[in-house]
Amino acid sequence: MTSYIPGFGNHVATEAVPGALPIGRNAPQRPAYGLYAEQLSGTAFTAPRHENRRSWLYRLRPTAEHPPYRPYDGAPRFAPGTSGAPLPPNRLRWDPMAMPQVGTDWIDGMTTMLANRDPADLEGVAVHVYACNRDMDRVFVDADGELVFLPQAGRLTILTELGRLDIAPGQIALVPRGVRFRVELPDGEAAGYVAENHGSLFRLPDLGPIGANGLGNSRDFETPVAWFEDRDEPTPVVQKFLGSLWTMTLDHSPLDVVAWHGNLAPWRYDLSRFNTINTVSFDHPDPSIFTLLTSPSDVPGRANADLVLFPPRWMVAEDTFRPPWFHRNVMSEAMGLITGAYDAKAEGFRPGGLSLHNLMAGHGPDHASWQAASAAELKPHRIEGTMAFMVESCWPYRPTTHALAHAQLDYDAVWKDFPKARLP
Ligand SMILES: [Fe+2]
Repeated sequence: MTSYIPGFGNHVATEAVPGALPIGRNAPQRPAYGLYAEQLSGTAFTAPRHENRRSWLYRLRPTAEHPPYRPYDGAPRFAPGTSGAPLPPNRLRWDPMAMPQVGTDWIDGMTTMLANRDPADLEGVAVHVYACNRDMDRVFVDADGELVFLPQAGRLTILTELGRLDIAPGQIALVPRGVRFRVELPDGEAAGYVAENHGSLFRLPDLGPIGANGLGNSRDFETPVAWFEDRDEPTPVVQKFLGSLWTMTLDHSPLDVVAWHGNLAPWRYDLSRFNTINTVSFDHPDPSIFTLLTSPSDVPGRANADLVLFPPRWMVAEDTFRPPWFHRNVMSEAMGLITGAYDAKAEGFRPGGLSLHNLMAGHGPDHASWQAASAAELKPHRIEGTMAFMVESCWPYRPTTHALAHAQLDYDAVWKDFPKARLP
């Protein structure tokens, strides 16, 4: 059975074999059992202490032992980059991805939809969707960023160098940059979203006047304990590096970390534990009140990426249009839907779908939602059975060539035929 240690970014020390973890030093002359000590950095060595993230790994073989990488020619829709052509400022929306007809693992089932910045900038974020129906018999590693998995259908078992993560729709998981992993599908097939953060590490937002508790609580982020496999058989490794995919084959599984300690680790989080905060009087706060995680940019208050949730919640505001009002933002918004319906859209935004409202695109409730919310009797009511999320970024998104070719054709029509205001 997999075990977890609660807490976000705290220092964890865990060993799958008693005595594997050195005590009192990170790199003893001869680690126990002939293990190799290896540091994995998530931040620069000299990052301030409260920002500094790294872990020490004790493994059967060092990561350094591998043959050269060569280009990987699978996964045609994963990491193809974006077109440099002028991008129309249109709002875009996509239907859910179809399940593949042939056996497809998580790597080949990935489709990059939206991206901004070059991964080499160490800024920006990409949004991918996946649809797959075969366990991986190889290993993936992303040098371009940390990966947040948001399953929409089907459970995932993510076997990482630092432990096993089991997640189902309604839970999310993060695998740090550079940590190798394999994805297995306990339900035989799976679909969902992946946010790839090239910038500063996702962290819990400061809470300001909210106080010491609320939104995502650090104790609800679960880090797996050490787990490893001792398998001396050919294991292909696919790496994403500077926006391209590369591969080489090891003669052993690299998921061979017997013990580790540090504060750079995978985690999982149950979205139902998010403490949702909103108005109890009138209006509603900006959607930043729903921020689970933030990746700051160099400009204070302007996120490289915010991961924002729209969970089930009570709506009680008086004399208030309760769904999100019309807005144009300097931030760019990619939205996905894990389950149910989103309260600003009547139809067309289905679980597994995606929408993009880029820099300064006018958007908000569609006509049907505006009509219903304007006429609604304002009793307290609960939005049930829904979970939408947004990956908001200060960098405008460029859809990939595939995404541009597969967007819904009539999205603009949801904002058609609003009656003109009547002046006295
Ligand atoms: Fe918006």
